[in-house]
Amino acid sequence: MTIHVKNNIHWVGQRDWEVQDFHGTEYKITKGTSYNSYLIREEKTVLIDTVDHRFSQQFLQNLEAEIDLNDIDYIVMNHAEEDHSGALTALMAKIPNTPIYCTENAVDSIVGHHHHPEWNFITVKTGDSLDVGNGKQLIFIEAPMLHWPDSMMTYLTEDAVLFSNDAFGQHYCDERLFNDEVDQNELMEQCLRYYANILTPFSSLVTAKIHEVLSFNLPVDMIATAHGIVWRDNPAQIIHQYLAWADAYQEDRITIFYDSMSNNTRMMADGIAQGIHDVDPNVAVKVYNVARHDKNEILAQAFRSKGILVGSSTMNNVMMPKIAAMLEEITGLRFRNKKAAAFGSYGWNGGAVDRIHTRLMDAGFETSVGLKVKWRPDRDAMQECRQHGQRIAKEWALRPLDSANSRSIINQVMSKPSQAVNQNAAPAITPAPAKNASLVVDDAQSMICTVCQWVYDPKDGEPNQDIAAGTPWAQVADDFLCPECGLGKSVFAVKKSEVNHA
Ligand code: FEO
Repeated sequence: MTIHVKNNIHWVGQRDWEVQDFHGTEYKITKGTSYNSYLIREEKTVLIDTVDHRFSQQFLQNLEAEIDLNDIDYIVMNHAEEDHSGALTALMAKIPNTPIYCTENAVDSIVGHHHHPEWNFITVKTGDSLDVGNGKQLIFIEAPMLHWPDSMMTYLTEDAVLFSNDAFGQHYCDERLFNDEVDQNELMEQCLRYYANILTPFSSLVTAKIHEVLSFNLPVDMIATAHGIVWRDNPAQIIHQYLAWADAYQEDRITIFYDSMSNNTRMMADGIAQGIHDVDPNVAVKVYNVARHDKNEILAQAFRSKGILVGSSTMNNVMMPKIAAMLEEITGLRFRNKKAAAFGSYGWNGGAVDRIHTRLMDAGFETSVGLKVKWRPDRDAMQECRQHGQRIAKEWALRPLDSANSRSIINQVMSKPSQAVNQNAAPAITPAPAKNASLVVDDAQSMICTVCQWVYDPKDGEPNQDIAAGTPWAQVADDFLCPECGLGKSVFAVKKSEVNHA
């Protein structure tokens, strides 16, 4: 089956209605997905991307129904991940000498997956072009880490179609191909879920790449993604949305998530949520049990939030494993501009809350004081939870609150008899360092790539780029590239454990 996209461009991809797991089992797909491949038939015939390897045979069968495979002059691989390059082995078995246009990084990852170094790779860089006849050209734009180091986009002149691969896509399946044809709420929900769970760590690159593409002053009539719909109605909307999401995005929203051994920490979550609502009825509050709710939905809600509250019972003096896993994932996603606080119930030792607090600080959140409750919260302890929520609401408010209303609610709670206050008192937790503390980088300090986490240590230098051992970061040439992900100096930051606060 093919779908006409524009002029001589047809969609020749594959829909996948039943897929539920992506990236192993880390990304739950709730609305299906598609693997979008496009066929351009000008004087030259070009195939843009293929499909997931599970659909190789079906893909070839469909393609052969449309054209003689030997008529394909060029293959463009915008990205080597298996959901896009998966059918290459089957395709190249039929047309083994066809040139494959891709980035230099993609040669490494395509060969790494398909084990055919003899394929006819032609590497391209940003600005390189390929004449396809009829006055049209393909222009290549490298897009490292959107979503792998090998990623690029391809632009077809005259038709003004940007083949963006993962960027601007979404795991969403519909028989209709274009954005204006589908349910808008479903579409934007899946766009946000995709961005929050996959692209957030690369937000600084998203911003830079979009501005770079805009600087070319190329008209964009359509954005043909590699997953989900094609943006033909106001494609700028998703570009603007990405710029907003990439800019330390937050809404007036608080997300609470927890795991609870005996329901006690869940009770605390309820009390805190009520307290927030008491003081700031306009803030959206959602509460999730990580053991029962969709992890990717929780992460998407956290991405949207101005702050998160993370709760766990103490088990063997540590937090519960599902909370630890969530914090690990949140650390990797590198959310910015968000506040956080820990809470939890304990029996004889409340180690979980302290550990959560430390992990939240390490993950870059601006932390507020945590809250511990011993055993099952009684009436007074539930009041303390509610009061805690009220304090959080005031501390995290994005605008002036109705102080008279807030004060009366707090006084009302404070005036009630308290039995458990002392033993349930919040732990003395050191606040996070002030965000505006000025940084001093000395010659011995290591620098970390904020994209792939590779570390430049001055005492080792980088021999592969002729940077001698003992070279401080300040003397590393401006054209230095991270040996791991290929990005420049601008994405490096002082390695956190070595930051000096002046
Ligand atoms: Fe859709 Fe990064 O693959």
